Amino acid sequence: MLFLQIPLLAVLLAAGDTEDATAFQEEIGFKITHSLSFYNRSWVKIQNSAWLGDLQTHGWDTNSGRIIFLRPWSKGNLSKKEIKELEEFLRAFSIEMPHKLHRHASEWKFKYPFEIQITKGCELHPGGPIVAFYRFAYQGSEVMHFQNNSWLPSPKGGTTAQDMCRVFNQHLFINNVVHRILSDTCPRFLLSILDAGKADLQRQVKPEAWLSTGPNPGPGHQMLVCHVSGFHPKPIWVKWMRGEQVQQGTQQSGILPNADGTWYLQVFLEVEATETSGLYCRVRHSSLGGQDILLYLEHHHNSMGLIILAVMVPLVLLTALTFWLRKRWSHCEPP
Ligand SMILES: *[C@@H]1O[C@H](CO)[C@@H](O)[C@H](O)[C@H]1NC(C)=O
Ligand SMILES: *[C@@H]1O[C@H](CO)[C@@H](O)[C@H](O)[C@H]1NC(C)=O
Ligand SMILES: *[C@@H]1O[C@H](CO)[C@@H](O)[C@H](O)[C@H]1NC(C)=O
Repeated sequence: MLFLQIPLLAVLLAAGDTEDATAFQEEIGFKITHSLSFYNRSWVKIQNSAWLGDLQTHGWDTNSGRIIFLRPWSKGNLSKKEIKELEEFLRAFSIEMPHKLHRHASEWKFKYPFEIQITKGCELHPGGPIVAFYRFAYQGSEVMHFQNNSWLPSPKGGTTAQDMCRVFNQHLFINNVVHRILSDTCPRFLLSILDAGKADLQRQVKPEAWLSTGPNPGPGHQMLVCHVSGFHPKPIWVKWMRGEQVQQGTQQSGILPNADGTWYLQVFLEVEATETSGLYCRVRHSSLGGQDILLYLEHHHNSMGLIILAVMVPLVLLTALTFWLRKRWSHCEPP
């Protein structure tokens, strides 16, 4: 039972303290991601977004070059001037970065089509400092990262990464601006939106759960699926159990976002079709205040019971009605 309680404790601790922004129990960060999809030598698609933990806070309108503030508190305490500066920086970035990558693509052995992901931001560690990061990835693996005010090759980046760092480190001015934004603007901004967005971040929304069977995994076997949806925050504990025993074969999908900012998850168990009795799905979440959701597989006798009920109830009602009508009838008959 103890191993059940530990995740719960972690969830409760994560959601527990609402005193101030620095009291977040898990690391939480603000990050900007740029995804650049290079289709061919003349065509690139850029998507920019910004996130506070799991919540998207900002988008980007490619046409106007303006930041889209997705939450009422997304501006934090940035001044108009600072927002303008950031927009100019992003606009320049969206023009110059693709140019540079197109120009050097063959030298760096980038093969079209390819995907570049650039992530930057800063992270608050519980009881610790705010740490800035800035990473550059090609086809999903990191090539180089920014430290202090210069680019360093990642160990797996090879000679390409070294060449890239040499090129990127020629721009001393840009590197200094980036360093200032990461080490000064980002931490200030992070603290201010953690405070402004506290109610949204710590919002507690109860999950709904239901069961279904998945695609037949093979003869004599059955795939049980427990769906859990609409919860917030993201940490959750869902298992297939029998009695106090967590079923070893329990498997979990990724936790996917719903459109309203809540989360969705599926938990699977493959069983022999004859071995389903007593199985249930157990859901534990900070919003449930210790009242876990337990969902038992419906059994045959349950549905039999329902059928009997469905036949019996109208029958009883009909009998009662007949009685009543007959009584009334005799009542109304003229003497
Ligand atoms: C590049 O890709 C775009 C989008 O797929 C396409 O419309 C365009 O014709 C391509 N250009 C060249 C030179 O291949
Ligand atoms: C970054 O710079 C500071 C001071 O300029 C120095 O103390 C620190 O060691 C540097 N960190 C790294 C990882 O190079
Ligand atoms: C914004 O908030 C941060 C953190 O609370 C604070 O350090 C900073 O001084 C504030 N900036 C302005 C312009 O109010």
